[in-house]
Amino acid sequence: MTETALIVENLWKSYDQVTALKGVSFEIGKGEIFGLIGPNGAGKTTTLRIIAGILHPDKGVIRIYGKDPKRDEVEVKRIISYLPEDAGVYRFLKGIEFLHFLAEIYAETSEEAEKMVEYGSRISGLGERLWDPMKSYSKGMKRRLLLASTLMTRPKLAILDEPTSGLDVYHSVLMRKAIKNYVKETGASVLLSSHNMLEVEYLCDRVAFIDKGQIIAIGTPEELKQQFNASNLEEAFINAVGGEVEEHVA
Ligand SMILES: Nc1ncnc2c1ncn2[C@@H]1O[C@H](COP(=O)(O)OP(=O)(O)OP(=O)(O)O)[C@@H](O)[C@H]1O
Ligand SMILES: [Mg+2]
Repeated sequence: MTETALIVENLWKSYDQVTALKGVSFEIGKGEIFGLIGPNGAGKTTTLRIIAGILHPDKGVIRIYGKDPKRDEVEVKRIISYLPEDAGVYRFLKGIEFLHFLAEIYAETSEEAEKMVEYGSRISGLGERLWDPMKSYSKGMKRRLLLASTLMTRPKLAILDEPTSGLDVYHSVLMRKAIKNYVKETGASVLLSSHNMLEVEYLCDRVAFIDKGQIIAIGTPEELKQQFNASNLEEAFINAVGGEVEEHVA
């Protein structure tokens, strides 16, 4: 790994009833795409929300390009962007108005803002529909607009919680290409969670398996397949979290 973009060290987080994170640690290099894979309830969203500064951990250290999200909140907010798993949209804004609204916050000149909007429009693939109110968009169209808006502001660390969830195959491929190109062009880093192993194999340089609030393995997809004696990442993951998949019959 070259220079470090993100350090996560010994994160602990409890909600009222559950201890969601039990000592999560990992690092991401500059220009790296890093994937978190884990079963429902494993603690992926909790981890991402803490890194994005939306939740505070009970314990643990986070450094984003050397900055502490708590102490250097404003600086950190400027260099990250976060796509929540269940993000909503501003119903009455048109897609294009939403992109302009964000560009005006992030860009320093009107020229830069125009470029951002152009880039965001292109990634969204929404074409003419950008001029319709966002409430008229399908679930996947909203997701595409939000993902586009997340990359458009040129974050040094993009935090994407299940970026292509709900997208059709064609648009999932487009979005993955957009993420990959973004990293290639800018040298930025991406932390994402996903349940789609094809996506993870295509996108991620390294992957962490997380289960019951703990990281149980970290490596390149190739290393994880070898470590868990599997021919694909899905099998490696199943082996890592404990073998057989049992059928639940009601
Ligand atoms: N707001 C909350 N209040 C109480 N418990 C919560 C809350 N959010 C998450 N949890 C609990 O914390 C644990 C981790 O949840 P989290 O959402 O981080 O999992 P996840 O890995 O993102 O799962 P999924 O794949 O379903 O998105 C779960 O047991 C969940 O029930
Ligand atoms: Mg989640």
